[in-house]
Amino acid sequence: MAILAIESSCDETSAAVVKGSKVLSNIISSQYFHSKYGGVVPELASRAHLESISGIVTEALEKASLHMKEIEAIAVTSEPGLIGSLIVGSNFAKGISLKYGLPIIPVNHIEGHIYSGGLQDSSVTFPHISLVVSGGHTSIFLVSSYSKYKVIGSTRDDAAGEAFDKIAKILGFPYPGGPEIDKISKKGDPNSYDFPRSMINSQNFDFSFSGLKTSVRYYLEKNFPDGVPDDLIADVAASVQQAIVDVLVSKTVKAAKEYLPDSNRNVIVIAGGVSANSELRRKMSSEAAKFNIRTVAPELEYSMDNAAMIAFIAEKRAFYNTDYDYFDLTFKVNSSHLRAKRK
Ligand code: KG4
Ligand code: ZN
Repeated sequence: MAILAIESSCDETSAAVVKGSKVLSNIISSQYFHSKYGGVVPELASRAHLESISGIVTEALEKASLHMKEIEAIAVTSEPGLIGSLIVGSNFAKGISLKYGLPIIPVNHIEGHIYSGGLQDSSVTFPHISLVVSGGHTSIFLVSSYSKYKVIGSTRDDAAGEAFDKIAKILGFPYPGGPEIDKISKKGDPNSYDFPRSMINSQNFDFSFSGLKTSVRYYLEKNFPDGVPDDLIADVAASVQQAIVDVLVSKTVKAAKEYLPDSNRNVIVIAGGVSANSELRRKMSSEAAKFNIRTVAPELEYSMDNAAMIAFIAEKRAFYNTDYDYFDLTFKVNSSHLRAKRK
């Protein structure tokens, strides 16, 4: 089935065409201008989506060498995300559905990330563990099939990406600071400062990152009241990154050991913006390998916010819910996080 998908839940406008699980195009336009405001400004994000969405969809069709008439279904992110941004994408998708008489499949954005391992690597089987780690989410999922997964653990406060961004801001890096910390950490010693690894030994699979931010701030204010000297910034950044990565890896590997059957085909998928972090990729791969568990980290175009992951899960699920009316254009967008655990 040829599916055209649209993703506009935050600050990326994206359109993709996927056919038979093969990505024919995946166009992503990032709204870099938010950087000067220190974070995403929702109203500006929706306006920018509105300006670019038509061109992005046209580009996705052109790159896939398909005409709209050859598309068989539309998929669109309907939740969670910024409400104005979601409305732009879903209304555009509804318009196309109406004009071409196509079924429309609303998709949960987090589910797109959860299943992105299979998009990258078709040998990813079930069950597997997915760590979805971004600016808004940090959760571990046990994924049993294309329609069945459950949350094993989640952050109780800040998402890991939020922690990267807030601490980067304290260190004077521009938004989003995660990639900046990753870059400068390569020049630093991760053992220079012993920042807390909150909940690393707790019996559950939950996370907490807000204490790390507070601890870094207090430490720096006390020891460097005039600001961190330039020659120490890389050491501080590397130590912060290590603290975040250590907890993510420890909990995810522990979840995989507990929940996955003991076989050679066990897989951990890491997805979402923070999965681009080089130390997270390195350490997850090496720690998981000790237990014969393979780590799959989708390429950047499939790990950041993108429409290919939305098309992929829509195609896998297409019409599995026979009670649902796929020509219903009255479905609403929803800004809040994952509502229910799919059983
Ligand atoms: O998934 P994403 O593009 O957007 C959402 O938050 O939904 O994730 C963005 C987050 C930001 O917090 C950003 O700082 C973080 O991912 N990020 C990174 C890296 N690249 C992106 N954090 C650490 N290291 C990176 N290399
Ligand atoms: Zn995302």
